[in-house]
Amino acid sequence: MDQSLAVAAPSTTRERFVLHRALAAPASTFAEDVRRGLSASPKFLLPHYFYDALGSALFSAICELPEYYVTRAEDEILRTKATEIAAAFGPNVRLAELGSGSARKTRHLIEAILDRQPSLDFFPIDVDAGILTSSSRELLNAYADLSISAICGDFRDPAALLRPYLPPSDARTVVLFLGSSIGNLDPAAAGAMLANLRTALAPGDALLLGADLRKSPSILEPAYDDALGVTAAFNRNLLVRINRELGGTFDLASFDHRAFYNAAEGRIEMHLVSKIAQRVLIDGYEIAFEEGESIHTENSHKYDVATLAALAAAGNFRVERRWTDSNAYFADLLFVAE
Ligand code: SAH
Ligand code: TRP
Repeated sequence: MDQSLAVAAPSTTRERFVLHRALAAPASTFAEDVRRGLSASPKFLLPHYFYDALGSALFSAICELPEYYVTRAEDEILRTKATEIAAAFGPNVRLAELGSGSARKTRHLIEAILDRQPSLDFFPIDVDAGILTSSSRELLNAYADLSISAICGDFRDPAALLRPYLPPSDARTVVLFLGSSIGNLDPAAAGAMLANLRTALAPGDALLLGADLRKSPSILEPAYDDALGVTAAFNRNLLVRINRELGGTFDLASFDHRAFYNAAEGRIEMHLVSKIAQRVLIDGYEIAFEEGESIHTENSHKYDVATLAALAAAGNFRVERRWTDSNAYFADLLFVAE
């Protein structure tokens, strides 16, 4: 993680963009993680591998689906409450964002902050270098007073990304973690991640956390199993990626996309289910599937007031503000570092 290299060196003149690559020496490779996950029982794959160029494009399409209320609900919050949220951030801030993706919703906050201060430093973090570069270019074109230090890396160890790349500053650091990405971690891992993030922050720094709220499975399940089949394609793209990058022999048509609400765990689970007994070759080794056997590819945990309070406590933050959309589907919370 720390063998990072800057592809464009920060210059003493007013350079507005730099990209740091913190993935140069990842702790484990795609090949190792796939072999480990598919050799386990039950089988699993790690969700950050969804986001290659095609995966990020499919996620953008998911955000437009009628069933996927998540993006629209959070966009409503950030659009209608931007002034209030920026006021809660205070007079002199810089922004970091974990899993920034297209950073479309972030624009509402950038605009509201630039109404209050003359310039803004933005530190977007994403595992997909392509979307990091394209979203940064669009933001720099739109906002002349914005400077961007983009960091390509794995947000599961946020302190390792923030410490080396956020220079000392008298500005308040506000970290955004939007889109219910926190929900893709198990509650224990989510608490540990926030505690890790907290170690890279000063007391008074803040986290704006976007969390999807518990609601009826009749709303939740279609959001992860849409009629057009875009989410199914997003899920199956993991197998496409294994075939392309690791020489896998997955037959896509023999795996079903399955998404359901697990009420006991308070989460949507996503699986790829083998329709038949079969063997798949990857890089010279073989993985056997029974008929109906699944690969667990993702969870999306749904939160409520109590579990959000527990999360803040686990990370050593206090909940200062909470904003919700008009349907009360989604919440953005301001966590302040104790
Ligand atoms: N924040 C945006 C995008 C959410 S999709 C929104 O709210 O719409 C999740 C984003 O996080 C993707 O851009 C994906 O590439 C990135 N991502 C997923 N897992 C990651 C990880 N472990 N480390 C860094 N980025 C990750
Ligand atoms: N953070 C998003 C969520 O949990 C990610 C996501 C949306 C997702 N749709 C998906 C992940 C479909 C896997 C499959 O809502």
